[in-house]
Amino acid sequence: MSVTQVSSSIPHIYDAIAEQYDDHWTRHVQTQHARLTADLELRSGERLVDIAAGAGVTVEMLRHTHPAPGVAVDPSSAMLEKARQRAAREGFALTGLCTTAQEFLRDCDEQSFDVLSLRFGLAYVDWERDLPTLAKPVRKGSGRIGLLTNLATSAPQALRTYHAFMDELGMEKAWPPVPRDTAQIASLLEAGGVEVVSQWSERVRIWFDNGMLAADWLTQSGYIASKALDEFPPELLAMLKPVFAKKLEDDYAVDGRVPFDFDIGGVVGVRR
Ligand SMILES: C[S@@+](CC[C@H](N)C(=O)[O-])C[C@H]1O[C@@H](n2cnc3c(N)ncnc32)[C@H](O)[C@@H]1O
Repeated sequence: MSVTQVSSSIPHIYDAIAEQYDDHWTRHVQTQHARLTADLELRSGERLVDIAAGAGVTVEMLRHTHPAPGVAVDPSSAMLEKARQRAAREGFALTGLCTTAQEFLRDCDEQSFDVLSLRFGLAYVDWERDLPTLAKPVRKGSGRIGLLTNLATSAPQALRTYHAFMDELGMEKAWPPVPRDTAQIASLLEAGGVEVVSQWSERVRIWFDNGMLAADWLTQSGYIASKALDEFPPELLAMLKPVFAKKLEDDYAVDGRVPFDFDIGGVVGVRR
């Protein structure tokens, strides 16, 4: 496992939530992970790189590419360590690179992999600029890229509640830093010489027993992981949270439970 540390608060946020990440998020999107993996048509012996790899979802792809070793890229050492442990437990070879997608893409060798996967990591790259260059590490003619992402239409219940808050406070609203649909991803990939062979979106609903649990989940799951939020005064956040939670319940609760709907997009393309 090679370790090069990077300085940014996002890896530090993921270091802090690494233990609970799979429970908060991955178990709800297993079907979508499996669908993207199937679309990639992985074969034994293929070299895989998983960017923003996280806590171990890479292993599901290694089942197909084994015995070739895989590479997991992530700047959170805690997330990478979980991935490394899971791969070792299951007998797969996985090299962890503790670095950002940006650094990896800048320094990697052209056409050195068969498959590149980037799952739930688009929020951490400048995707409008980076998607056309994402194919650099995969081979021309046969190399595939698989992307799985929340779309900007995700969690409208949380987004509208937050926007209403910001309007009331007269503050500027932020928008989800991800594409609005898979067509937007497809056209950026195609601009980089990738032929898109499958694209789809599916809605996933997660229920919370009350508004406070829903509000807590937004930060504990990493769904909202931003430098700005990390630097927000914790006592002010604690004060605002019950008001936010109550509004979620008033506007969206069904029998006391609050739903969040996630629009998950999957795109697979071949480098031409
Ligand atoms: C939402 S998790 C997704 C993890 C995994 N791909 C999955 O689907 O479960 C986002 C991951 O991106 C990583 N990350 C944050 N900033 C990054 C960057 N600049 N480059 C690459 N990965 C980054 C985080 O450390 C975290 O592990």
